[in-house]
Amino acid sequence: TPLHSALHALPKCEHHLHIEGSLSPSLLFRLAATNNVPLPDSTLDPSFASISALEERYLHFTSLNDFLHYYFIGMSVLITASDFESLAYEYFARAHADGVLHAEIFFDPQAHTHRGIAYKTVVEGLSAAQKRAEEEWGLTSKLILCFLRHMSETDADVAYQEAVALGHFSDGTVAGIGLDSSEVGFPPEIFREVFTDAREKGVRRTAHAGEEGDASYIQRALDLCYTERIDHGIRLVEDEGLLKRVAREKTLVTMCPLSNVRLRCVSKVADLPVRKFLDEGVRFSINSDDPAYFGGYILDNYCAVQEAFGLTLGEWKGIAEGAIEGSWCDDGRKKVLL
Ligand code: HPA
Ligand code: ZN
Repeated sequence: TPLHSALHALPKCEHHLHIEGSLSPSLLFRLAATNNVPLPDSTLDPSFASISALEERYLHFTSLNDFLHYYFIGMSVLITASDFESLAYEYFARAHADGVLHAEIFFDPQAHTHRGIAYKTVVEGLSAAQKRAEEEWGLTSKLILCFLRHMSETDADVAYQEAVALGHFSDGTVAGIGLDSSEVGFPPEIFREVFTDAREKGVRRTAHAGEEGDASYIQRALDLCYTERIDHGIRLVEDEGLLKRVAREKTLVTMCPLSNVRLRCVSKVADLPVRKFLDEGVRFSINSDDPAYFGGYILDNYCAVQEAFGLTLGEWKGIAEGAIEGSWCDDGRKKVLL
């Protein structure tokens, strides 16, 4: 890509990264062996026959749910705080190499507590990696606790209350809450109570919406869950009025181009509404979502957008600036990033 070095040099923020989605097949197999975690029998699913077979399988996801099946099996190899620390430290190292200065990363506590891994263990490991990344590279970061929307609101509340009880929202250990996993059939308002409580406590809020679900999922996330951001949000183009509102309110849309192609939300990057968002003044950032599953880290996503849309450096600077403004770090840090 012609602008490759300029894209590398841009002050980048990442806002849509599932830390469990940075688990590569090679680390997955290594941790499965170390931790004695059984993987699916390869006579039942040949994808688990080898690292390369699994890598090959990741090229052929047919939908969000098809991906999620592998995503939840993959993370079952994460057992100790040190596993979570290594995973996150390796992500931060890679993000730093791509020119990321600030990262706000998702984690899925319910996916761990439901298989006997304590919430505290997960957060202890992630926090240790955050501290090292800031000390070593000046890379700042935040944690966003995501609820799994295919599980009940009661179950989400259990995860939320555990973080509340440990003081993790008030001491900044966890900056906000999000909503991920299967979208269609699990609208945001199922979780309205926990989001309303978060708003009252001053906890930041976001939700995946308009990835596979239609534009009404975006409207419901904003109006019924008071989200300050929209994750993916590509189907915003289907509702012109809502799009104009999101532009006017400067709501950050966290796009993930390579993810959308791999999960067949669009057939190619050029079909994403990047030009439309720029023309209408929708604030958005470019992110990697689950880089170990979707074939690229953040810079790969920037480059894929550049190849498809041929933006000017000025447009890129505008995108990077919007991403900084839409971050959840304090104004002092934003000033340094800008
Ligand atoms: N969508 C919903 N849930 C997810 C995703 C995604 O893109 N990645 C990890 N969990
Ligand atoms: Zn996501």
